[in-house]
Amino acid sequence: MTVGQYEAMVRRAQQDPEAFWLEQARRLSWQSAPRQASRSEFTNDIRIDWFADGRLNVSENCLDRHVRTQPDKVALLWQGQEAEQKESLTYRELHARVCRLANVLRRLGVKKGDCVAIHLPMVVEGVVAMLACARIGAVHVVLFGGFSAEGLAERLSDSGALLVLTADVARRGSKRIPSKTTMDEAIARCGAESRVQHVLVVRVTGADVPMQPGRDLFYAEEVAREQPECPPESMNAQDPLFLLYTSGSTGRPKGLVHGSGGYLLWAAFTHATVFDHRPDDIFWCTADTSWITGHTYVVYGPLANGGTILVYEGLPSWPEPGRWWDVIDQYGVTAFYSSPTVVRAAMREGDEVVRGRSLASLRVIGTVGEPISPEAWQWFHDEVGKGRCPVVDTWWQTETGGVMITAAAGCVTPRPGAACQPLPGVQAALLDTQGQPVEGPGEGLLCIAQSWPGQALTIWQDHARYRQTYFTTCPGYYFTGDGARRDAEGDYWITGRVDDVVNVSGHRIGTAEIEDAVATDHEVVESAAVGVPHDLKGQGLVVFVVPRQEGVFDPAAVSRAIAAAVGRYAVPEKIYAVRDLPKTRSGKIVRRLLRKIAAQELDGLGDLSTLADPEIVQELIASVQAQN
Ligand code: PRX
Repeated sequence: MTVGQYEAMVRRAQQDPEAFWLEQARRLSWQSAPRQASRSEFTNDIRIDWFADGRLNVSENCLDRHVRTQPDKVALLWQGQEAEQKESLTYRELHARVCRLANVLRRLGVKKGDCVAIHLPMVVEGVVAMLACARIGAVHVVLFGGFSAEGLAERLSDSGALLVLTADVARRGSKRIPSKTTMDEAIARCGAESRVQHVLVVRVTGADVPMQPGRDLFYAEEVAREQPECPPESMNAQDPLFLLYTSGSTGRPKGLVHGSGGYLLWAAFTHATVFDHRPDDIFWCTADTSWITGHTYVVYGPLANGGTILVYEGLPSWPEPGRWWDVIDQYGVTAFYSSPTVVRAAMREGDEVVRGRSLASLRVIGTVGEPISPEAWQWFHDEVGKGRCPVVDTWWQTETGGVMITAAAGCVTPRPGAACQPLPGVQAALLDTQGQPVEGPGEGLLCIAQSWPGQALTIWQDHARYRQTYFTTCPGYYFTGDGARRDAEGDYWITGRVDDVVNVSGHRIGTAEIEDAVATDHEVVESAAVGVPHDLKGQGLVVFVVPRQEGVFDPAAVSRAIAAAVGRYAVPEKIYAVRDLPKTRSGKIVRRLLRKIAAQELDGLGDLSTLADPEIVQELIASVQAQN
């Protein structure tokens, strides 16, 4: 796309959004084309409503229509951790695999609207499972392999999943993750709340795993019994495609619901526009499919656009530094979409590692999930993109379904460190603390003034919470939870979360989730988790704990409690035992102070006069220093 075409699109979306989105909807193949784009409302009960009179099937859009025009084009390239583990599937082959599994799901009693949990590493079956659910109108819930049994149980119960797909054991470098036994424990923990009737087990390593007769079945044996054709279910555009759990400022993770038509259009539109997608691209989004990035840019966006995706199972630097660069060279990857954490880790490995690889196939490179510093941006641009590839830093969220603010490749001039410009149709706004829009350059709460097709429809079985979380801080707007600055050129610079959410290597962790976990340790009276800057992870977690009995405190027990309730990925960098927490006279913990003390930013601690006990501050500083 040319700059002129892009700018024309921005104008058209601004002037006549209804017509613009109906035109864009033609990117998809509809069984019954929508006559209305949006009837969404950010007021009263909140209604997110896109293409509501349209009918389609998402897997039909990602597979069948391409099978008709380009059956032998490679849809999916898979590379496992070991060199010999690989697969290449054409659209025809991927379609057949999806149909077989869809038939298995139907045979096992899964119907339109039922939830299916997918707990798989980065193997072909993970992608097949998502599309098979879409084919029969089942709602998928992809669960991260790093969740503890308790974390999985919470999500299984909340979603009411009827069937689970899991692996025998997952590989993560030299580590082995016991997926099946963790899932067994999770289902057992759900007790009477579990609705799981079947567990389909994908053999990844071939390890022996316990199988419960009647409930557990091996994936390979079940799909072998089915035909490679399965008629797609006809879905309303507003029917849910998936739920995805994410963290917020309260303890319980929320299951955000994405619809079929609006979400898929947003995935296709943003994938094409942001990455300037071309038919011969080999698109590699390195995100795990259990995150929204994996949903939208490993699976739905590129496949809706008839592209070729690469799915890689392994870690960036295992078995040796530079492994991902080798994968790019081996497959001729043209678009590489990863995270600032990966870029920072690669910078640390030294320039020789990346300079020892060609990377000549790359055309566009991007990052998502956390702010990228101007230095990391420049390094990515110079060393990975070799100064030739546009770098797209993309700002978005689980809730937005796809990219919202970016410098679309070839269309918007990028600025290192800035998220840049809202995409066509995205009405970004900054609001001050009084809820008034900030005009021109300035800083404020990042909000969106109008719905866009990728917007989550609701929170699973809790629309009131959806309204409360996103639409009460700035009435009439969707509130993102982020702060941002807009400069004189109109570029947006994300300043980070303004709520109690910490972003550790792109993992969104609610501090309340951590505190709830710590509360299960009976030696602890109270705790507060905060985020501090971290060289490699962007942010690291630090937890302040008030032990019941002074001097009696076991940080390892606190770490274990967090690993058990949330997962190992949420174990903090540091746990400090303190006598008390800084609180206002009304008893509210002053996290701003804890953040500064944890980060050793002791200048400008600000006004301490509102504290119930101002003395606590010096005591905390001394206590932290003594424990470092
Ligand atoms: O704080 C923002 C940060 O990640 C949050 C969304 O997290 P999640 O829903 O897990 O989705 C991550 C992948 C889309 C945002 O509220 N964030 C995401 N992208 C950026 C970012 N912060 C700065 N720059 C970004 N490009």
